[in-house]
Amino acid sequence: MRTWFADPDTRSWTLPSLFSKDDVRLSEDVITRYVEQFTRPGGRVFDPFAGYGTTLVVAERLGRSGEGCEIIKDKADYANSLLAQSRVHHGDVRTLEPAAETFDLILSSPPYMNRVDDEDPLSGYQRPVLSYDAYVAELAEIYRSVSSRLSPAGRLVVQLQNLRTASGVTPLVFDLHAAIGDALVFLGEEITLWEQDSYGYAHGYCLIYQPK
Ligand SMILES: C[S@@+](CC[C@H](N)C(=O)[O-])C[C@H]1O[C@@H](n2cnc3c(N)ncnc32)[C@H](O)[C@@H]1O
Repeated sequence: MRTWFADPDTRSWTLPSLFSKDDVRLSEDVITRYVEQFTRPGGRVFDPFAGYGTTLVVAERLGRSGEGCEIIKDKADYANSLLAQSRVHHGDVRTLEPAAETFDLILSSPPYMNRVDDEDPLSGYQRPVLSYDAYVAELAEIYRSVSSRLSPAGRLVVQLQNLRTASGVTPLVFDLHAAIGDALVFLGEEITLWEQDSYGYAHGYCLIYQPK
């Protein structure tokens, strides 16, 4: 069984000038791999950190549909302009009204935080920082909470990486996994390899879980 993938950072379209063209987006190859592996055509996908809507755009391309949540209104509006069957809610995923509907796949890349950062990524960098430990605890709670919307055979896939700077290593992958604890069944990790360094590494992780 392959547990690593050389994923080109695929971006099949450029962002409009309102946004930074290099802003972080999930690789379309990563999304395609998990949508095809864990859902069938017609299946439903949720992205709690939807950003520019990449997860849902690729899901629609593959004949799936879904929902997302994004705290920055311009991004949510832009994502919705690209989507036909799917919708990105504008707001904080921590206060999103849970729908009765279930999803086959929750796939996302959260906003990252380094131990020494001084802005809160879970507020869209609009507030002074929580502590790193509080951020990890909140992120784990978000994933535990949204996972209650998975179908019994559904999967949660979290794409993230450890962060290495001159001030040291922030082991975000390991810290988040430890904080999720035994609320979900851990099915393992897959490694994504990139050609270029990002946050001090040229690889990242996809952590894969299923409901208990
Ligand atoms: C790593 S980016 C996701 C990028 C996305 N996968 C894409 O390809 O465009 C994380 C996103 O989460 C959003 N975000 C941060 N905190 C949030 C929150 N509390 N609720 C909803 N969205 C949030 C950020 O604004 C950012 O767009």
